[in-house]
Amino acid sequence: MVLTSELKQELLERAAEARRWAYAPYSNYPVGAALLAESGKIYTGVNVENVAYPHTVCAERVAVFKAVSEGERHFTAIAVVTVNAKVPCGGCRQVLAEFGLDTHVLVGDPDGNLITQAVLRDLLPDAFTPADLPRR
Ligand code: THU
Repeated sequence: MVLTSELKQELLERAAEARRWAYAPYSNYPVGAALLAESGKIYTGVNVENVAYPHTVCAERVAVFKAVSEGERHFTAIAVVTVNAKVPCGGCRQVLAEFGLDTHVLVGDPDGNLITQAVLRDLLPDAFTPADLPRR
């Protein structure tokens, strides 16, 4: 998929819209994500918290798991929207890295404005990837 500026904008808007469904009663830090697969389909995600805190799942991971569970394995870009436009956490970078380091990461504000962008490879230097596991 070619990541046009129109697609970037659409991803940021989808992430901002999805954010309203975040379930974040403990942190009050709702996160929305929109993941663009190579197929052209967009999968959204939100953080889903749990009273047993460690069972919380980040928005980015929800989007990845939704996509993978529908047969996707290749991703062009992910947009993430938070109140303070933060890049995905380390755990989510690792989960994204499983499917390639060339994924573009777009970070937006709640109005869907692009604040920062990067390529996953640069956000996760010296990444541990499937290629690093010795073949048995
Ligand atoms: N969170 C995400 O959804 N994505 C991130 O990359 C960072 C953190 C969520 C997890 C938790 O529900 C809340 O934000 C505060 O950590």
